[in-house]
Amino acid sequence: MELFNNDILLKIDRELNKYLDKENKLYDASKHLLFAGGKRIRPYLAILAYLLKKEDIEEVLPSAIAVELIHNYTLIHDDIMDNDDKRRGKPTVHVNYGMPIAILAGDLLYAKAFEAISNIEDSKKAHEVLKILSKSCVDVCIGQAMDMEFENRGSITLEEYFDMIYKKTGALIVSPVEIGAVMGECTEEEKRALCEYAKRIGLAFQTQDDILDLIGNKDKIGKPVGSDIREGKKTVIVIHALENLPKDKKERLLEIMGNNETTEEEIKEAIDILKDSIDYAREITIKYIEESKEYLKIFDPEKRKSLEKIADFIGERIY
Ligand code: IPE
Ligand code: IPE
Ligand code: MG
Ligand code: MG
Ligand code: MG
Repeated sequence: MELFNNDILLKIDRELNKYLDKENKLYDASKHLLFAGGKRIRPYLAILAYLLKKEDIEEVLPSAIAVELIHNYTLIHDDIMDNDDKRRGKPTVHVNYGMPIAILAGDLLYAKAFEAISNIEDSKKAHEVLKILSKSCVDVCIGQAMDMEFENRGSITLEEYFDMIYKKTGALIVSPVEIGAVMGECTEEEKRALCEYAKRIGLAFQTQDDILDLIGNKDKIGKPVGSDIREGKKTVIVIHALENLPKDKKERLLEIMGNNETTEEEIKEAIDILKDSIDYAREITIKYIEESKEYLKIFDPEKRKSLEKIADFIGERIY
């Protein structure tokens, strides 16, 4: 199977459409981001985990797209919190529709996720999915609050950072994998292995995202480059730099960070200061990806291939 199977991607979009098939300002605002060309990694992961044990994906679609709906809700609200004006190459929802409608457009997607879960036929599975999803939504809220609190704190340890990114990003990568396992009726041992796999690709997903924010191609990532510097985010790169840079470079970095008026020149200067720390972030990303694949070894080599490929994609992604 190719990395992203077109037939599966079409089924994901068709299922998403079912829940937003209305034309008015609020629905348009929700659809503005949802159908702007996201990678659909989360529903795809749910489907791939499900396919380890089953064949027909119809049963897993409602829960798979519930995660994508929740993901898009978090993105709309995240762009408000991070003051970002571009996502998926388009103006963000609050830029296009204004703040109140953007908040509601996120809320609508969140509500629609629960409508999707109510369409899972097996009520025992639906109950399990609900438990997994509600926990991951709480984690995202806590992680996002930590992410913002860290902006205003001088030093953050790597341990605190990984706890924060596990919650803000990892939780919504682990939950679809776990949901796929539940819907596919994996054993407890298989479920545990899949969650360990997902935890590591989830962490790598964010460390790579931190890297792309600095050295990504803006047309490819579809988001503003240098946004984390302007917002003063304590990314893995910045934390490593603050621990390792000589005093003068560290002071200069802190001067540039957390200022919305920062120029392109200053962003370039910061990237230059952060060079070695970007290499460090690359090493961490690769380490997590390699570790993640070890946990898949209990599955049949042919069946686990697509999950291995997704892990490699996450480690190497440029968008
Ligand atoms: C972006 O997620 C938010 C993070 C967790 C870093 P994605 O990179 O999966 O965004 P889309 O859905 O493909 O746009
Ligand atoms: C992603 O963190 C976490 C959530 C959206 C919940 P970022 O703020 O780094 O994501 P991007 O870079 O805006 O996509
Ligand atoms: Mg953010
Ligand atoms: Mg953001
Ligand atoms: Mg980011």
